[in-house]
Amino acid sequence: MSSFLELVRDRRSASNFLPNNPISEEQLQEIFEIVKLSPSAYNLQHAHYIAIRNPDVKEKLYVAANKQYKVLSSSAVIIVLGDKKAFYDAATIYSGLKLLGIVDEQEYEYMVNDTVSFYESRGDVFHKEEAIRNGSISAMMFMLAAKEYGWDSCPMIGFDQDEVRKILSIDPKYEIVMMITLGKEKIASRKPRGYRKPVNEFVSYI
Ligand SMILES: Cc1cc2nc3c(=O)[nH]c(=O)nc-3n(C[C@H](O)[C@H](O)[C@H](O)COP(=O)(O)O)c2cc1C
Repeated sequence: MSSFLELVRDRRSASNFLPNNPISEEQLQEIFEIVKLSPSAYNLQHAHYIAIRNPDVKEKLYVAANKQYKVLSSSAVIIVLGDKKAFYDAATIYSGLKLLGIVDEQEYEYMVNDTVSFYESRGDVFHKEEAIRNGSISAMMFMLAAKEYGWDSCPMIGFDQDEVRKILSIDPKYEIVMMITLGKEKIASRKPRGYRKPVNEFVSYI
């Protein structure tokens, strides 16, 4: 097991992958078992994933992603979605607390109503922001968990959203947060790490 600092320093956005490194569903499952521990607003767990290993579907996604070769050479393409209507799952998500006796019926009703009315009062733009905000936090967890299990990744936004939506028949309640390609990095294609601003340029202390 690596240390967290090593893991963060070693993660790079892969510019290409070594072909023919299949990833099993069991391995993806192990990664997602870590991903599920990500934080989310009101614990609504807005993130939803589609993991694509099928070569024919990957080929279509490759075309939709401006023919970025890493889509083809990847072991899996991961589409990260954010559920704009996740707040309607509050009753189900909180029911465990009631069953375990952590909250009583009245507290449970209050929690559910509080969450639903918070989201309903804020409207569609907020729902979309929440889908992307919470989906992005989850996506970062995915990339770190994958790295821990020996898989490299590249987060990607260079693709036609409508095309990807069509190829995968994505429900309109989901916002497409990003694509992540996953595989074994072709180290020979790696470029030096891009410039990073010094801390004092991106942090203000008050
Ligand atoms: C939201 C997002 C979208 C990105 N889209 C692409 C992309 O479409 N294609 C690509 O090659 N890299 C993409 N990247 C990777 C960035 O170029 C990369 O993270 C950045 O250059 C820093 O490199 P590093 O992650 O290796 O430190 C994206 C990264 C993020 C966070």
